[in-house]
This record gives sequence, C-alpha cells and structure tokens, in this order.
Amino acid sequence: MIQLKSFLFFVFLILTVFSCQKEETWVGPEIPSHFPEIAQKNMQNRKFTKEGFLLGKRLFFDPILSVDSTVSCGTCHQQAGAFSHIDHDLSHGVMDRLGKRNAPAIQNLLWNNTFFWDGGVQHIDLISLAPIENVLEMDEKINNVVLKLNRNSYYRQAFKNIYQVDEIKTMDIMAAITEFQAMLVSAKSPYDQFLKGTYSFTSAELEGKKLFEEKCATCHSGVLQSDFVFRNNGFQLDNHLDKGRYEITLNPEDEGKFKTPSLRNVAITPPYMHNGSIATLEAVLEHYNSGIKQNPSLDPKLKNGIPLTKNEQKAIIAFLNTLTDQNFQKDSRFGF
Ligand code: HEC
Ligand code: HEC
Repeated sequence: MIQLKSFLFFVFLILTVFSCQKEETWVGPEIPSHFPEIAQKNMQNRKFTKEGFLLGKRLFFDPILSVDSTVSCGTCHQQAGAFSHIDHDLSHGVMDRLGKRNAPAIQNLLWNNTFFWDGGVQHIDLISLAPIENVLEMDEKINNVVLKLNRNSYYRQAFKNIYQVDEIKTMDIMAAITEFQAMLVSAKSPYDQFLKGTYSFTSAELEGKKLFEEKCATCHSGVLQSDFVFRNNGFQLDNHLDKGRYEITLNPEDEGKFKTPSLRNVAITPPYMHNGSIATLEAVLEHYNSGIKQNPSLDPKLKNGIPLTKNEQKAIIAFLNTLTDQNFQKDSRFGF
C-alpha cells in the first residue's frame, strides 16, 4: 500500500513538472543578481508579455516608422554591434542624411536614468519619439505613424489583442517598443562570469582590471562601468561643435559635457565618443595618455591626463575585451 501511495505521488510529481514546463512563463526583462537596482523605477510594475515583446520587436525593425519607409530603428542599431551602428561614425538616416552623433549600443536601458548622449530623455517609454521625429533620422511625425499603424490590419489586431485598444495611440506604440528594448539585457560577458566565479581572467586581463579600477573607474564605475554622469573628457578643443548637456539644461557649465557611457560591449561598438571621432580602443587609450585637450569644461580629474605605458594600455584593452557579451550578440530572441 505504501508503495502504491509513493508510486502515485511520484506520478503526480512528474505530471506537475511536465505541465509546468508546457505552460510558457514570460518573466520580462532579466534582472541579473549582480547588477544594481534598476534606475527606471516606473518599470517595476509594468506588465511585460511575450506578445508585447514580439510586437515591439516588429516595430523596432519596421521602416514604417520613417517618413519614406526606408529606415527602421534596426538600421542604426544592429545586434552584431550590441545594437549600435556598425561601421558608422555618424548615423545615417532617411535619404542618406548624416546625423551629428554616433549611435550608441542599446543595452541595459533599465539601469539608465537618462537616455542619449545629452540625457535629453528620462523615461524609457519616450525614447522612440526622438528618432522618429528627428529630421536627420526618421523624419516622420508621430501622428502620422499613429495613422499608418491604425490603417494596417496586422498592427490593429496585435495592439487590440495585447493592449485591448480599438484604436492605437502614441503611448501604446511607445509601450510596445519598451517591451522589446527593456529586454535587451547584456549580462553574460566573461567579466560577468568572472564575477560569478565561473571564468578565470588571464594575467593580462587581471592586470587590466586593476589598472582600470585605479584610473578609469572614478567615472566608468560599477558593474556597468558608468555612473552615467555628464562630463567632458577632453577629446576635442571646441565645445561649440556640439554643446551636449547644455542643449538640455542651458547651463553654460554643461557646454560640451556628455553622458559617461557604459563600456559593456565596447570592443564591438567602434568608433568611439559622441561623434564617433576616435576609431579604435588603442586610440582611446592614447587619448587619455597624451591627447587630453584643455577645454573650459574639461573634467578636473583629467587635467593632467592619465599617464599609461603601452603595456598598461594593452592590459586595459585586454580587460575591456572581457566586457564583450557574445550571448547578447547572438541571442536569437532579439534577431531580425
Ligand atoms: C538614423 C539612425 C538612427 C535611427 C533610425 C534610430 N536611432 Fe537610436 N540613436 C541614434 C543615434 C545617433 C543616437 C545617439 C543620439 C544622441 O545621443 O543624441 C541614438 C540613441 C538611441 C538610444 C539611447 C541609448 C542610450 O544609452 O542613451 C536608444 C535607446 C535608441 N537610440 C533607440 C532607438 C529606437 C527605439 C529607434 C526607433 C524608433 C531608433 N533608436 C532609431 C541613431 C538612430
Ligand atoms: C573623468 C571621467 C572619465 C575618466 C577618468 C575616464 N573616462 Fe572614458 N569617458 C568619459 C566620458 C564623459 C566619455 C564620453 C565622452 C564623449 O563622448 O564626449 C568617455 C568615453 C569613453 C569611451 C568611449 C565609449 C563609447 O562607447 O564611445 C571609452 C572606450 C572610454 N571612455 C574608456 C576609458 C578608459 C579605458 C579610461 C581609463 C584609462 C577612461 N575612459 C577614463 C569619462 C571618463
């Protein structure tokens, strides 16, 4: 009898496990245990669904968002480059119009409290408005996007199913794109594995990590290698070429300051800086070593540059290479 009971219990267990496996659970964006708390607090209660993610992904890769249906978000944000614009110093929008800034990676957005090089947007849902309406990028009007999507039977049905709306509104479009963008979490690089104790650094990588922590982490701090503060790192003399943070705050002290970028996936996102004017990591290191331009908003910590021998520069680059997350580049959920 006891045997029969335990047998039945065993069958019950197997069935439970099996049925749980069949029912797909969608947890939304991964929150890696070694990351800090998310900065986009308003996302804590957002309901994420697989269908919403797929709809957001479709919108991200659909040129319908641009004025002449030639450019999608994915044109300038490519997965192989951690969703940055591969091989472009400045972005190329509709009709081959040249933008004025370099397209950064799209990754770990939930941990940013501002977006864009100048921090012009604070809420993750509002990101898409800027590229859609930027004349040099998609040059479309959001109201026209709303009209186009409402005329499209696929989108109408999808928005109805997911957000229970008969008519698609701007905020529904923004929310769907957020469902896709928020999922773009990059947290499986060798550096992450090192932190979890499942990857051993080579001696060069270890040396590089130590140097990086001493010389770079005052600004590129923490597991995301940034505190996201606006600064000027002296790579050009003339702050009027692009006034950066000033354009948002109108505070003269902010002229020529830009958001300190996260360095995750940095090896696969050349060229560098807000205008893409530095082509390689070697040149970035040489910039900090010998190329600092004394302009009025230069961060005081960089006044004397960061003296580094060639070997030290190489070690830091070895460390930066451990920030490349191949899983992120190849994750088929995010692909076109
Ligand atoms: C023509 C190229 C182009 C297109 C199209 C484009 N982007 Fe961008 N994206 C850029 C550039 C350039 C920047 C940097 C702009 C700045 O900082 O002023 C950027 C910045 C961003 C950022 C900021 C990342 C950060 O860490 O601050 C996000 C997110 C983003 N884009 C998402 C999108 C989405 C979503 C779309 C489609 C609705 C889109 N982009 C379309 C070029 C483009
Ligand atoms: C005083 C703060 C500060 C220090 C110290 C600092 N950086 Fe930066 N770093 C910045 C800022 C700000 C930017 C963005 C500048 C811009 O685009 O105008 C930047 C940009 C970069 C970029 C370009 C990233 C991209 O996606 O374009 C790299 C790479 C980089 N830094 C590496 C380093 C390394 C390596 C060190 C140490 C040797 C270092 N930084 C030290 C503030 C700093």
